[in-house]
Amino acid sequence: MRPADSSREAQILSSSLLDDRDSLLRIRRIVMQNACALNAFAFRNNFIFKSTFLLITRRTMSNLEEANEICKKAEDNHASVVAAHYNDLKEKGLRERFNSPIYYLRNFNNWVKSVLIQEYINKIRDKDYGRPIKVLDICCGKGGDLSKWQRGRANHVIFADIAEVSVQQCKSRFDKMYGNKFTAQFIAADCTKENLRDKYTDPSIKFDIVSCQFGLHYSFESLRQVRQMLKNSTECLKVGGYFFGTIPNAYEIVSRAKKSSNSEFGNRIYNIKLLFDPKDGYPLFGAKYDFHLEGVVDCPEFLVNFDLFRKLASEYGLELVYKTALADFYNEFSMIKEYKHLLHKIMCFETYPSPPGQQLLGEPSEYEHAKSFLDNSEGRNERDRLGTMSQCEWDVATVYMAFVFKKCKTPNSE
Ligand SMILES: C[S@@+](CC[C@H](N)C(=O)[O-])C[C@H]1O[C@@H](n2cnc3c(N)ncnc32)[C@H](O)[C@@H]1O
Repeated sequence: MRPADSSREAQILSSSLLDDRDSLLRIRRIVMQNACALNAFAFRNNFIFKSTFLLITRRTMSNLEEANEICKKAEDNHASVVAAHYNDLKEKGLRERFNSPIYYLRNFNNWVKSVLIQEYINKIRDKDYGRPIKVLDICCGKGGDLSKWQRGRANHVIFADIAEVSVQQCKSRFDKMYGNKFTAQFIAADCTKENLRDKYTDPSIKFDIVSCQFGLHYSFESLRQVRQMLKNSTECLKVGGYFFGTIPNAYEIVSRAKKSSNSEFGNRIYNIKLLFDPKDGYPLFGAKYDFHLEGVVDCPEFLVNFDLFRKLASEYGLELVYKTALADFYNEFSMIKEYKHLLHKIMCFETYPSPPGQQLLGEPSEYEHAKSFLDNSEGRNERDRLGTMSQCEWDVATVYMAFVFKKCKTPNSE
């Protein structure tokens, strides 16, 4: 690209599309190309006056700083939208939760998190019985996993989230907890931009487990944010410790979007609209989509390119040990007696057909799978019932995937 062409393109882009992240990233790239092209031009034409060279570089750098500044503002805007959204979520009582259209989906997600927590706490304990277990719960929200850490007999947990109100609610839930409690610290911070270690009461703490449930994808707005998230997640993680979590599955989202005519899909409880055209793949960072989930989430998110995430994670000493879609996660862990029992205990499934005097959460058409299973069961009795989830809830559950990394070495930078 010739210098003049590229600078003009940068100008056009910057004046007309400042709210578009893709364009901003393009501007950054063009400004850099421009610098190289202009400097090469200066050398080629033999006017290597130091001052010209420096002037070009300085001007370009100031353009670059401007583009960086604009990108940073866009990131800050996004962070405040996310924080405001989660801060505004009302705490729901038991009755309200029971009547929620995503009652079973929530329970299922809690089951997934319980299994992950229990599995990896057991692995740590098996290796080093009796040693206190320390945890970082990053993007903790209102502390949905407090009781899971208690059940796993963690000894110390640090909770961190960008939404200050959620962190306060997490702390007050913790204060009200009974029984054998762990010790805890609560931190309100943007984990994609701030250094968490600076905020720990004991900055020399070493975690056995770092858990990031349904939150990591928010960092995929930019490379710098993913790096900060990885730094926070690994800096104090012991070698041999685990970093695990749950995220929306980019592959699943893009496949579903490609089947629709307008990059939008969903059902009565959720809706996803891609804010880019998936025809030509998706950007590595800032692949933004609007996500609406009945009463829980209603804000923009970013696709996680998992191969890239894995590669970046390796720079922080992490090795992928497990990765699976939640549908397969269910198939695998529901076979284990203890976790099968938990599925029933925390009511992950709805009784089909509904018992007398009760109603199904969804429309009858959402239970065709359960009906056909019963209809085809040998020796079926009219009173036979089974546990299931409406198709609408299952469609949301299967948007997600789980991952587990193990810290294998300390990176040189630590
Ligand atoms: C879907 S909620 C999950 C909460 C909790 N982990 C759970 O499973 O119940 C996502 C959380 O990520 C948090 N979050 C989003 N962006 C963040 C950021 N940049 N830094 C820290 N937390 C963030 C939100 O405030 C929200 O509490």
